[in-house]
Parts: sequence; structure tokens; C-alpha cells
Amino acid sequence: MQADPQRYTVTAALPYANGPVHIGHLAGVYLPADIYVRYLRAAGRDVKFICGSDEHGVPITIRAQKEGVTPQQVVDKYNAIIRDSFQDFGISFDIYSRTSSKTHAEVASGFFRKLYEEGKFIEQTSQQYYDEKADQFLADRYIVGTCPNCGNENAYGDQCERCGSSLSPTELINPHSMLSGNQPVLRETKHWYLPLDQYEPWLREWIVEGHKADWKANVYGQCKSWIDQGLHPRAVTRDLDWGVPVPVEGAEGKVLYVWFDAPIGYISATKELLPDTWETYWKDAGTKLVHFIGKDNIVFHCIIFPAMLKAHGDYILPDNVPANEFLNLEGDKISTSRNWAVWLHEYLQDFPGKADVLRYVLCANAPENKDNDFTWKDFQARNNNELVANLGNFVNRAVVLTHKFFEGKVPAAAELQDIDREVLAQLAEFPQRIGELIENYRFRDALNELMNLTRAGNKYLAETEPWKLIKTDEARTGTVLHVALQLAAGLVTLLEPFLPTAAATLGTMLRVGKGSWQQAGRADALTAGQQIGAAALLFDKIEDATVEAQVQKLLDTKKANEMANAVTAPAKEDVSFEQFQSMDLRVGTVVAAEKVAKTKKLLKLTVNTGLDERTIVSGIAEFFIPEALVGQQVLVLLNLAPREIKGIQSQGMLLLAEDADGTLQLMQPGQAVKPGSFVA
Ligand code: 2FM
Ligand code: ZN
Repeated sequence: MQADPQRYTVTAALPYANGPVHIGHLAGVYLPADIYVRYLRAAGRDVKFICGSDEHGVPITIRAQKEGVTPQQVVDKYNAIIRDSFQDFGISFDIYSRTSSKTHAEVASGFFRKLYEEGKFIEQTSQQYYDEKADQFLADRYIVGTCPNCGNENAYGDQCERCGSSLSPTELINPHSMLSGNQPVLRETKHWYLPLDQYEPWLREWIVEGHKADWKANVYGQCKSWIDQGLHPRAVTRDLDWGVPVPVEGAEGKVLYVWFDAPIGYISATKELLPDTWETYWKDAGTKLVHFIGKDNIVFHCIIFPAMLKAHGDYILPDNVPANEFLNLEGDKISTSRNWAVWLHEYLQDFPGKADVLRYVLCANAPENKDNDFTWKDFQARNNNELVANLGNFVNRAVVLTHKFFEGKVPAAAELQDIDREVLAQLAEFPQRIGELIENYRFRDALNELMNLTRAGNKYLAETEPWKLIKTDEARTGTVLHVALQLAAGLVTLLEPFLPTAAATLGTMLRVGKGSWQQAGRADALTAGQQIGAAALLFDKIEDATVEAQVQKLLDTKKANEMANAVTAPAKEDVSFEQFQSMDLRVGTVVAAEKVAKTKKLLKLTVNTGLDERTIVSGIAEFFIPEALVGQQVLVLLNLAPREIKGIQSQGMLLLAEDADGTLQLMQPGQAVKPGSFVA
């Protein structure tokens, strides 16, 4: 670990511009990165925070094909959504660029060309699937076929999403092209490979020996197992018409592999931000480079990109890659394709002014060492019990009482007692304690410590009871509030990396700006006699109905997924017209309905069939309230042979539509008709 760097380059994984970002991305990557950077800035460090959209690669072209638009339209749309939502969430990038920028094309091509000219690649031809109708080579994701392992007929050329096995396109049974539906043919094609095997000894030394102690166990473990399994040359070019063209002769129709160009995007974004000085942030040994990523990106950032940087030779290597595990949602894996996610842009719309609440919950529950679960119940509980009842309550009491007893002027401190000294001593320790945790990428623990400080503040007020003390000892009350206000002033700086909006509101309330991290523990941020601003609520309670609406949204998604995935039952045998005509199908009107005693599913209906009033027993009790059925028109099969059900003679059958999830609905005429009308 680089101990005392002169400057920091902090990157956050470039999100694919093929969809919006969700809470899993935030908890895993962007929030910890932002906390880290905000802390470094407060500590007076020179830091640049780099991100942008990853706009190349097959995920983009597939999305374009699905939406019937061009790849450019896809990236323009999602780049804007992602960029704006990050901004509204308070992610404080120094630049949010795009890999479709001109600078990026130049930097990425230059990088490739240098390696090419220095003979760092190997050239290889191989057989790849080609779609003769669409007249192009097919990326693995564009080939669909039957999985040889589980028989799934919709497995992709690189992976079967049903059984999870990774595949190569030639393993698929009955492969066909997603572009034309045709069976693809194998054709020869040439590509450039980075010989990762040649970098294996160096990677082993650098990671396995060099970073055992300071990289997170999950990151180190994944890298070690990759290296132990043996590294192989990896193609860094693709046959595709979307991306940075391969800048050498004989490479027409080929682009750089997205995982070759995307991490170079960190460099090109820095160059866009600092046209004159970017090199210090990438080439000077005094710079500490930290990549924040999700765990699915570990191999690219710890093995492939470092091997590229090493091959190039001019660049520094990452000092750390603090990847997180995954965040689940309500007990289920977050999935873009199943729309099982809380999307950031939707959250910001549904919870205006509450970015900090989500920041708090995602950090308090961050999947730092193991996968974790986000639930709306926990979201509500943390807001109400921790933000409102702990942090908000402490600040509010200190400020409100100062207004009530001292006209909003910071009271003077008389002689301090032990209890005052203790709480101030705690405040003095916290900046360093929290800072160390942040520097070691332990953001949850850091936030928890911060909440311990506000807990200590609440305990202090509960023990000193200034609201009672005022009746007997005004000077002592002043001292207590003086101490409490110093604590609150320290929070303006200490809160800022985690909850920037609340920190700013608190700063306005106390009329103090955010100071340096090192000074945040001082006991004299406020001077006696200084006027403070009006009390404002930092957080307010979130009601049950609000989170229930979010849960309902997820249940609706689940239902929609079940419907979409439901397999339609196979067709039945043909019947003759005579057989069909022999059925007496009519419209009836329900005149009475009641539950059949001691059953869960059965209702006893009395139906006016136009011919008579008869009893029909139907298994619909889980879906209808009996009273609501009275007066409804229904379709009935009248001449079904009568049957006894639970001791009741049922004379006919109701026709119902059964949804994919088993829900039953009545079949009804579009407009009321006379009971007894035929259904034909
Ligand atoms: O997994 C992803 O979303 C990738 N777009 C991350 C790229 S990170 C970097 F290399 F650009
Ligand atoms: Zn499979």
C-alpha cells in the first residue's frame, strides 16, 4: 500500500450506457468511491475522481437491436439518464465522460498502436461464426442455441443463463443467428491477442506476493485463483461495426474489444479534464491509483488492464481495487433483464430530496465482505430509527434549545465538568478514527462510528437534560448547549462524505462552512455569542404507505415476469363441430353467493340461467368476495353432468380465465345480455 501519496487518481467503473443504474451499482461502486473522494478532498488531498459511460461493445448493439434504434441513440439516451441521476445523487465526479468521445478514440488507438508496433500482441486466425445473410461475423451474444448441459433452447454463445455454465459458440447445439435467424457458418478471421501467459510471473509477484496484505480478501482470492489456473492469450479485437476501429492495416471491419478500450477510458477522461497535466495523474510514481468496481469486473481491473499498462510501460499500476460483493433486493438477485431492481432515476423521482437517505442505507448495509440484501422495510427502519431518531434528533435538540433559551446565540461555556470533557474528547478522536477506516475502504464501519458520535451526543443531552436544567441553572445549561453545538459543528465536516446534503443543511443551520477533516474534532468551531440559523429538519419519518407502494411495485414486476415466462400449455386434441355444439354454453347472472363451510377454495353460487335458478359450486373463493359476485354476469356450461361437491349438488360449471400465475378471472359478455343468451 502506498503510504503517503502526493496525489490520488480514483476511478469508478464506467457503466454501460445500455440501461440506467440501480442500487446494486451504487452500493458496490459509486457510493464508496464518492465517500472516499469526498473524504480525501476534506483532508486536503489532491484527488481526481474519474468516470464516464462505457459506450462500446455488444451490450450496446444488442440493446439497440431490441429497441429498434441505432447504437448511437442508445448511448445518447442512457448516458444522459445515468449522468443526471449520478449528479442528483451527489456523486461528485471531477469528470463524467464517454468512451465515444474523440479524445478517447485517439488515446485508445494510440495505446493499441504502441503495443502493436512494439510487437506486444500475437496475431492469430481462428474460425468464427459468420451470418451470411446479415453479412457479418457474430459476437458470442448474437448466437443462440441449445445448451449442451441443460437443454435450454435459448442459451447464448458465451453463456447459458438457465444453468449458468459458460460456453463457447461452437458448443451450442443448433446455433442460429439472432440477426437473421439463419444457421451461421464458420469462417476464418484474424485477431490480435494480448499474451497474458507471458505476464503471469510478473502478475504473480505483483498481486500474489505484493498485495496479499492490503487487497480485500475477495479481490485477492479471485485474482490468485485466476493466476493459479493459468493465464492464456486473450483477443483484444472483435469483428463488429461499433467501437474504436483497430488502427492498423488489414483490420477493416474490426474494432477494439470493449474491455480493451473501456479501462483506457479512465485515462482519456483524465486527459479531457486536465489537457495539460493529466500525465501526472497516470504516470507519476507519487500518484496513488484506486479503482472502485463491482466484483464481476475484478479480472479486468486486476489482471488484464494491469497487464496492458505493464505492456505499455509508461503508466502506474493500481494501488488497490476495493471491489465489493453484490447487493440483492428483497432476497432476490438484482437483475436488469427481469427488471428486479431499484433504479436510481426512479428512486430520485419517488423520493425527492431524499438522496441522503438512500446513501445512508446503502452504506450502512454495503456488501463489503459478503453479498447483502436491500429491503424496503430496512430502508424505512434505518431512516426512522437512525437518521430521524438519532442523528436528526440530536442536531434538532441542540439547535432548537439554543433558540429557545439563548435567542439563537451560541451560549458561553462556563467551567467544564467531566461529562463535558468526555464528550469533547470523543469528538476530538473521531476524525482520525473515521478517516482511517475510510482509507482502509471500511465505509460501513466508518459510518457506524459516525453514528456512535451522534449517539454519544444524544446520551450527553439525555444525561444533562438542558430542558430541565434551564429552570435552575442557566449558566450550566449554556455550557451544555455550547458543548452540544460544537459536536454538531464537527458533524458538518464528518457527515459530508456520507450525507452531503444533510451536511450542507446543517452547515447553514449552524452558519459554519465545512472545514478540513483534521480540524473537525476541535472544540471551538463556534464562538460564544455567534448567531446560528433557524432549525431545519434534516430528515423526516417515512410512513408505511410509502414503502408499501415500493414493495407493490416489485410485486407487480414479479407478476409481469411470471406472466412473460409462463409456458403456454400445449394445444389439445381437435374436437368435431358437433361435439362443440353439444355443449350448452350460456350467459347467466349470479343472484346469490356464499362460501362453502370448511373449505378454502369453494363458493356456492346461485345463478339465474334464463331457464332456471340453479346451484353451481366453483373453486374461486381465493379470488372473489362472495358479495361482489352478486349481480355479475357469468358464462356457464349448463349441461355438464351434475356432481356432488362437499355435499352440494353442482349443476353446471363457470367459465373462467386462468392467468399465468394461477389467478382466476370471470369470463363475461362485454355488455349485459339477457340471462340464457347462448355463447357460440
Ligand atoms: O461492467 C460494466 O458495467 C462495465 N461497463 C465496466 C467497465 S469498467 C472500465 F473498465 F471501464
Ligand atoms: Zn444450460
